[in-house]
Amino acid sequence: MTSLKKFYKKIIKKKEIINFCRILLLESFRDIMPKIDNSLINDIRSRVDIVEVISNYVKLESRGKNYFGTCPFHDDHSPSMSVSKDKQIYTCFSCGATGNVFKFIQDFEHISFIEAVKQCADMCGIDLKISNTATDNYIKKHKELYDIYDTSQKFYQNNINSALGKNAKEYLYSRKITDEQIKKFDIGLSLNEQDMLTKLLIKKGFHEKDLIKSGLVNDGNNGLYDVYNNRIMFPLHDTNGYVIGYNGRAYQTGTTNKYVNSKETELFKKRDYLYNYHRAKQPARDKKQIIVMEGPMDVIRASSIGIDNVVATLGTSFSPSHANLIKRICSNVILCFDGDDAGLKGTKLAITELQNIGINPKIVRLPNNQDPDEYIKENGKEKFEQYILNAYNVMEFKEILLKQNINLNSALDMSKYVKSMIDEINKIDDDILKELTINKLCDETKINKEVILDKIKGKKAMEFAIPQKKLSSNKYEKSVEALLFYMLRSKEVIELYDKKITHIANDEYRHLGFQISAFYKQNGYIDIADFITSVNDDEETVKTVGKIVSLDLKENYTLQQIEDYLHNIREYNDVKKMDEYKIELSMSNNLDEKLALANKLIEYKLRSEEND
Ligand code: CTP
Ligand code: MN
Repeated sequence: MTSLKKFYKKIIKKKEIINFCRILLLESFRDIMPKIDNSLINDIRSRVDIVEVISNYVKLESRGKNYFGTCPFHDDHSPSMSVSKDKQIYTCFSCGATGNVFKFIQDFEHISFIEAVKQCADMCGIDLKISNTATDNYIKKHKELYDIYDTSQKFYQNNINSALGKNAKEYLYSRKITDEQIKKFDIGLSLNEQDMLTKLLIKKGFHEKDLIKSGLVNDGNNGLYDVYNNRIMFPLHDTNGYVIGYNGRAYQTGTTNKYVNSKETELFKKRDYLYNYHRAKQPARDKKQIIVMEGPMDVIRASSIGIDNVVATLGTSFSPSHANLIKRICSNVILCFDGDDAGLKGTKLAITELQNIGINPKIVRLPNNQDPDEYIKENGKEKFEQYILNAYNVMEFKEILLKQNINLNSALDMSKYVKSMIDEINKIDDDILKELTINKLCDETKINKEVILDKIKGKKAMEFAIPQKKLSSNKYEKSVEALLFYMLRSKEVIELYDKKITHIANDEYRHLGFQISAFYKQNGYIDIADFITSVNDDEETVKTVGKIVSLDLKENYTLQQIEDYLHNIREYNDVKKMDEYKIELSMSNNLDEKLALANKLIEYKLRSEEND
């Protein structure tokens, strides 16, 4: 027993050490991040209004003192996120997401803390002068390559607009691509020449090795020559809008290889690349929806009917990087690949990759093996928009696929179908969708719901769970929570905590108390939103703050109230300590040890009486 207790104590110690190391580590990371003075960060925060900022991303409605909106950090169906204008923080009572304006932007846009601070600084007209340091350095490092692509792009664009571009333009017109789109998408043309671009680049002073590195020039038996001849050139831009490669399409009969992509370089990797990302970013954020297609022609066609929230994967090999890039824009994703088998395969892959990072995409399957380009050209904007509007959710899509190969009159086929559906239902996280799908399956198969429920994992999942709302029941925990609640509002309460509390049993709360006190010591005041900035990297603590501020407690307190909390906490600690000593006392065989323990017990007893 004693050894068990010692072991337990060691674990507690260990946890504290780990926490301590984590703080040290975060501090040391801060050192290598661009430094901005804390007071400047807090000043920037106080100048932007969290309600205004969040309204740019999520529709907020004012209700009483607070604003409410659907939470963008989980699959929310009703407004669970509350935003406080007073406290300048948000909390979601369903998933527990909590933070200040920086944390919201950081998590919504999937950018770093510094970048979020920078965005807010821009909003209030403060020039932080740390403009995308990482990006700047990256561009400097690859300056030669960027310059080569920039020069080549101008060259290709001149070509298509010159007399030599007549046939290429006619080809594009025949595909109903207008001059407006040629301009918007910077479409160019490589000429029917051996080495026009190579010569130009050499004349401009670029080094041979960089030309070859760029993938636009090859080294052959007769010297350097252009990789692209006689192709319509779709420039590929990175997320910042710089050209990093090309997708060259043959436009005259007899050319082999319909499409040739630039070779992979340090800047361009097909698996990390989405066509049109830099243009689609804003429209997609505005619309809160992003559509994924296969190729530039699809994207350009969609843009011609006013749909600009579209990116393309350059084929159907959907990668984890693609999923992450998309998540940075928004999580309402519509997959609209070609209607053929390759498109179907790509769709399935994309669903898996997106679900791996918590996104449930919607799916469009176009008829007659058509791709979006062909479908839109043939049927127009309205019909296409109907497809987008009626996109399947993953479950409906899987259901359609499952049904495709079965005979609904065969009992064997039916049972296979039901089993596959149950497998799929078990994968659904969303309780409401789960319930709806089960009901639908029962209706359509006429199988008793009990039978199906019996096969569904964790029927409990059906109950609506709001984990964060589970309030503590005992007096001690309630006192700790209330104490923390008021510590986040009043320095007077922090000072009382510092003076009177030496220990809080619950790890999570102990850590929060410790952090609030540390913030106050450093800054001489307490403000919830600024406090969140100071523990920004400590997800757990931020979540705990969310839990505490969501408590249904009055804003104002009386000193008597605080004294009661302090008393309850100390009493609990003392009783717990005394219990421990009593156990140790009864277990010990050593007289000296017994005496020492008895002394301690008396000490505690006296103290707890003094407390009363
Ligand atoms: N692709 C590619 N390399 C290939 C084939 C295709 O990079 N060898 C990419 C191209 O970006 C292409 C996309 O995959 O745009 C989709 O291919 P496909 O459906 O064959 O082309 P379409 O978009 O239909 O192009 P088009 O209408 O010009 O035939
Ligand atoms: Mn296609």
